[in-house]
Amino acid sequence: MHMLKIKDKEFTLYLSQKELERKVKELGEQISKDYQGKSPIVLGVLNGAFMFLSDLMKEVEVPLELSFIKIASYSGTNSTGKVKEVIGLSEDVKGRHVLIVEDIVDTGLSMTHLKEMVEAQKPASIAIASLLVKPEALKEPIDIDYVGFDIPTKFVVGYGLDYDGFGRNLKEIYQLK
Ligand code: IMP
Ligand code: MG
Repeated sequence: MHMLKIKDKEFTLYLSQKELERKVKELGEQISKDYQGKSPIVLGVLNGAFMFLSDLMKEVEVPLELSFIKIASYSGTNSTGKVKEVIGLSEDVKGRHVLIVEDIVDTGLSMTHLKEMVEAQKPASIAIASLLVKPEALKEPIDIDYVGFDIPTKFVVGYGLDYDGFGRNLKEIYQLK
């Protein structure tokens, strides 16, 4: 299937199941190497990262703990506008090697905020894995330790990513036409 319609929008195939599998395996091997002798705590960012996280974790061969967090955005009353709350982040990360797993970094604002919240808990180390990064959309520079694919600033859907709630179950990634 090379074309797809979700609600009012048309998408075309962008990353095949094969390409995703190959990349996830590669990232898993790299992470396994880097965390040799350590037992990290992995924080998966819901909802979008669920499929990437699930496939990636099967490729990581160090003992690890897996936990799920969620970033809720809501309009604040202060001048910064959008305030973001991290749900599910506990003090358990203190002194631990933390690996955050995200589906996509777009402006980077969510990740920057999340990273700060995790850092405040004093982990031993912190690293970020994101399947997709839109480098041209980044509002401020942020180090992503494990990047699947750098992609253009175009909306994508599938493999966990949604358009208006739909498309998360697709096994490939599609790009807005
Ligand atoms: P950021 O704070 O701008 O980096 O936004 C990150 C979040 O926006 C991601 O975790 C996604 O939930 C969502 N997002 C950004 N770009 C896309 C896209 O192309 N498709 C689907 N969701 C996206
Ligand atoms: Mg996300």
